[in-house]
Amino acid sequence: MLLSSRVKGIPDSITMKLNEKALQLTDEGKVIYNLSGGQLPIKPMPEFVEKIHHQLNFLKSYQYSPSSGFTGLRKKLIRHFYEVRNLPPEIFDEEWDCIVSNGSKHSLYNVLGALLDPGDEVILLAPYWVSYPEMVKFWGGIPIVVKSNVFDAFVPAIDDIRKAISPRTKAIIVNSPNNPSGVHYSESWMKDFALLMNEYPDLIAISDEVYSDISYFDPKPTYFYQQDHSLLSRTIMVHAISKTLAATGLRLGYVVAPTELIVAMSRIQGQTTSAPNSLIQRALMDFDLSLLESFLVPVKNHIRHNAAILREKFREANLGHCWYQSTSAFYFMIDFSRTPMFARFNEEEDNSDKIVDELLNNEGITVVPGSDFGIPNSARIALVIEEIPFQEALTKIVKYLNRS
Ligand SMILES: Cc1ncc(COP(=O)(O)O)c(C=O)c1O
Repeated sequence: MLLSSRVKGIPDSITMKLNEKALQLTDEGKVIYNLSGGQLPIKPMPEFVEKIHHQLNFLKSYQYSPSSGFTGLRKKLIRHFYEVRNLPPEIFDEEWDCIVSNGSKHSLYNVLGALLDPGDEVILLAPYWVSYPEMVKFWGGIPIVVKSNVFDAFVPAIDDIRKAISPRTKAIIVNSPNNPSGVHYSESWMKDFALLMNEYPDLIAISDEVYSDISYFDPKPTYFYQQDHSLLSRTIMVHAISKTLAATGLRLGYVVAPTELIVAMSRIQGQTTSAPNSLIQRALMDFDLSLLESFLVPVKNHIRHNAAILREKFREANLGHCWYQSTSAFYFMIDFSRTPMFARFNEEEDNSDKIVDELLNNEGITVVPGSDFGIPNSARIALVIEEIPFQEALTKIVKYLNRS
């Protein structure tokens, strides 16, 4: 069968491949430590599950919702957004709207579809979430990558972003807290970013905030539009229940943005998936979002604890120069390039895939190669697994890093 050139350009998901290999090794009786996951290994809070049960009783839960989602839920999510971000409610008049989609990956895909013409450039800040470049390319856009490194805890420099902006730049995606670095950008970074946005009045900011509730180190994440509310008119805020509610499989993401964009996204959605999942929308509409804070306390304590284990393991193994303080989301990026094991590799090349393969085959540990996130010779580990296996996995990792 002759497939489209567009689909031929889409690479296989390396994470899926790794998972397959890990499953195969498990079947062969090997102990595998899976540090590649991007989700919490727990169920959503019972109060939310209860709302889902309740909504099973209604016909509407099984029928199409309006294509951009139920109005009541959209209004609730806009209100939640301005309340938690401490924004003046009067800004959010009829010029503003919200669209609910089947996960925030779907939201982002629709955002880019509504914005991009072929050849438009989108700035991505590396490390970036693995799906951004492919989504941009799918819609004919060109990803322009701004690098960062472990010395700056993977926070990109504002001057480097400025250098990447061209007359073809349409948008920039800011993902704070960041997947995969596990840090959120500081308030002073956000202030400088707001100033930068003001230098380019046509630049659109896509703010991917799916991890904004999962920050375990003060100060908490803040955003550029809180510094300058006028920037909201060209800000697209993306969020989801996946990470915050431990509900990746329920597929509910949303966007709060100027109405013009939401109408365009709604057209794409109406002609593709019709509408988001009615049952989950209705459960969320009924759910008290303020309960989330208490649900996330033990989650954040657990991740903070594993982050402390990681710091100790690196310190004991004299790998302190490869360590930085992660503050949020589920992850940490290991930089291989200044560890003893790297002597075996060609430093001119990106060896992430080879190293990740070795970690799986020799140590029984799955991590995600940095090549997927635009940072060569590195890998992402997740800090969410239980303490004992996490300790064991880290002991093996630092031994491997120190083996030349
Ligand atoms: C930064 C970031 N944005 C968006 C998503 C998409 O999440 P979902 O489609 O489950 O809402 C993810 C998932 O891992 C992510 O890490």
